[in-house]
Amino acid sequence: MSTGTNQFTITKTSKPLPKPAPNTALGFGKYFTDHLATSDFADGKWQNHRIIPYSNLSMDPAACVFHYGQALFEGLKAFRQKNGKIVIFRPEFNAARMAFGTQRLCMQAVPKDLFVQTMLELVNVERDWVPSERGSSLYIRPTLVGTEGFLGVRPSERYLFFTLLSPVGSYYSGNSKAVRIWVETEQIRAAPGGLGAVKAAANYASSLAAAAEQKKRGYDQVLWLDAVTKDQIEEVGTMNVFFVFKNEIVTPSLNGSILAGGVRECALTILREWNLPITERKITMSELKDRYARGEFLEMFGTGTAAVITPVGELQYKDHTFKLNTGTETLSNKLYEEICQIQYGEIPDRHQWLMAIDR
Ligand SMILES: Cc1ncc(COP(=O)(O)O)c(C=O)c1O
Repeated sequence: MSTGTNQFTITKTSKPLPKPAPNTALGFGKYFTDHLATSDFADGKWQNHRIIPYSNLSMDPAACVFHYGQALFEGLKAFRQKNGKIVIFRPEFNAARMAFGTQRLCMQAVPKDLFVQTMLELVNVERDWVPSERGSSLYIRPTLVGTEGFLGVRPSERYLFFTLLSPVGSYYSGNSKAVRIWVETEQIRAAPGGLGAVKAAANYASSLAAAAEQKKRGYDQVLWLDAVTKDQIEEVGTMNVFFVFKNEIVTPSLNGSILAGGVRECALTILREWNLPITERKITMSELKDRYARGEFLEMFGTGTAAVITPVGELQYKDHTFKLNTGTETLSNKLYEEICQIQYGEIPDRHQWLMAIDR
């Protein structure tokens, strides 16, 4: 199959792996499929588009990515719908976000048509790996790294764009399981003018220590505050956040150091369709404390490709513990259901968020 204008060479593995049995607890990123997609940028052009057996990559030890961190990635999902159709959720969104990131990291952009075609070609080759249980999907991880070997500090002139796939269940250990979040007040994830708004590997490196520390203490993730006032709420390590108050729903406005999440955008669209009072604005820990004390802070949830819509049951900030509503009667659960129903083809895709791999 060729779905676009770029010519792909497909080499199938001679040793396909057994697929996880139905109802296996897939977790997140534990299983990988049989093939990778790769393209090279060299001599001023994208070339050599291949689908190859999953294998180690070979790179010059002086490759720019190892020393100066020119690395961007994306995360998106393919779903198997009830009628057997396989669809990818908003690949053009992820193509655009990666292209935006290449400007900030001074990297070569992957053209949108190549990005989208790569997703379609690879998922098509691996279609039998798309799980069918509701709540499970095939996670797609496109990655772009600078591969030129040199040691003077400058942008790479060669790049590798590769994509791998992983059948996944829910990111946290259960769809309806509420998470416990620690509000980080010492370290920061991103600063004004920094990398926070792009999906740079470096952002995740800088978030690991705080997340690991809080994991030991029983928290699932860390909520990051702004670098300047340490009061303004930004995002969780892998999700954007929404707060449900008595008379208003709020998500932090994109301030240049928050990643503009695709699911955040979908949640905003749906909440507006439902005529709910949703605002994108600055929101602080001081406001959360006040509104919690007045009994107005009802729910909090995170949005993300991996997390879908994840309720927060407990938020810990200094010596304040916010206990929040979770369960089936919440707005987060209603939103989770709506997004899943669209993804699994149970209701019409009224926003054209889905791209079928058979076209
Ligand atoms: C830091 C961060 N914020 C937000 C998100 C949510 O983005 P999206 O909805 O596009 O997956 C993610 C994850 O994927 C993330 O890593």
